[in-house]
Amino acid sequence: MRAESYLMENKEECFRMNMKTDFARLEYQATWAGLKEGMRVADIGCGSGITSSFLKQIVGESGHVTGIDGSDTRILHARENYGKEKIEFVNLDINDSLIDLGDFDFIWVRFFLEYHRKNSFAIVKELTKLLQPGGIICLVDLDHNCLNHFGLSRRLESAMINISDIIEKNGDFDPYIGRKLYSYLYDLGFKKINVEMKAHHLIYGELSQVDKYNWLKKIDVAAKKSGYRFEEYSNGYEGFLDEFKTFFTDPRRFTYTPIISCRGIK
Ligand SMILES: C[S@@+](CC[C@H](N)C(=O)[O-])C[C@H]1O[C@@H](n2cnc3c(N)ncnc32)[C@H](O)[C@@H]1O
Repeated sequence: MRAESYLMENKEECFRMNMKTDFARLEYQATWAGLKEGMRVADIGCGSGITSSFLKQIVGESGHVTGIDGSDTRILHARENYGKEKIEFVNLDINDSLIDLGDFDFIWVRFFLEYHRKNSFAIVKELTKLLQPGGIICLVDLDHNCLNHFGLSRRLESAMINISDIIEKNGDFDPYIGRKLYSYLYDLGFKKINVEMKAHHLIYGELSQVDKYNWLKKIDVAAKKSGYRFEEYSNGYEGFLDEFKTFFTDPRRFTYTPIISCRGIK
């Protein structure tokens, strides 16, 4: 995978993932989907490896986790920090042949399809081939990502919508992936499909350090990468960033993002 093709590519991406990944949330989502001790798991787009290590805690001694990511930097980090018996990390682009990965009882695909707007259905279709009959796929992603705020000025709202439109068209990013997940499993003939929707971000009042770091990093990396000209602001990007920071750190602001989980059995 070419590093620049990943929208959120930046030097601190392992740090961002480690900081924002919460064991209790992942445990809830994965056990809701049916993850159990002893299962053989594939963690698609495992990033820093922290999610694979959490999934391994759930499947226990008798389980096995394979983390797959296209970034050699993140796979190196994953091997150094989380590699041990029965957790392996494979450096592979998801669009390449997956056949050597073997087969799995459970495939975890969280915060991954949003980066593959054009190909997301085809990716899920290929992943289905890696599942044992009776195996579970769990797709988890955001919907209307980064677009639900109250308290924005008109120009800030317009800049946010314009950036989102550009990364959707040119960056293969899908701000609406969450709402598509059910149809993917339905169309692929999965059984016992369950869907759940919760608030991933629900931000009001004082801003936590995790939300501050994560959102400012998302805005910085994605907004710059979009190439948007920020004509609403006389000083361009700097003016936009200052206004976003003022808005986002104001305890009056209200921000939310729905997270949709969808699981099915092959
Ligand atoms: C936001 S992170 C995933 C976080 C993690 N799955 C979780 O549950 O929290 C997305 C990861 O997908 C990886 N990725 C993006 N496109 C890829 C591709 N085509 N092949 C393999 N990995 C890819 C990126 O390198 C990045 O580490």
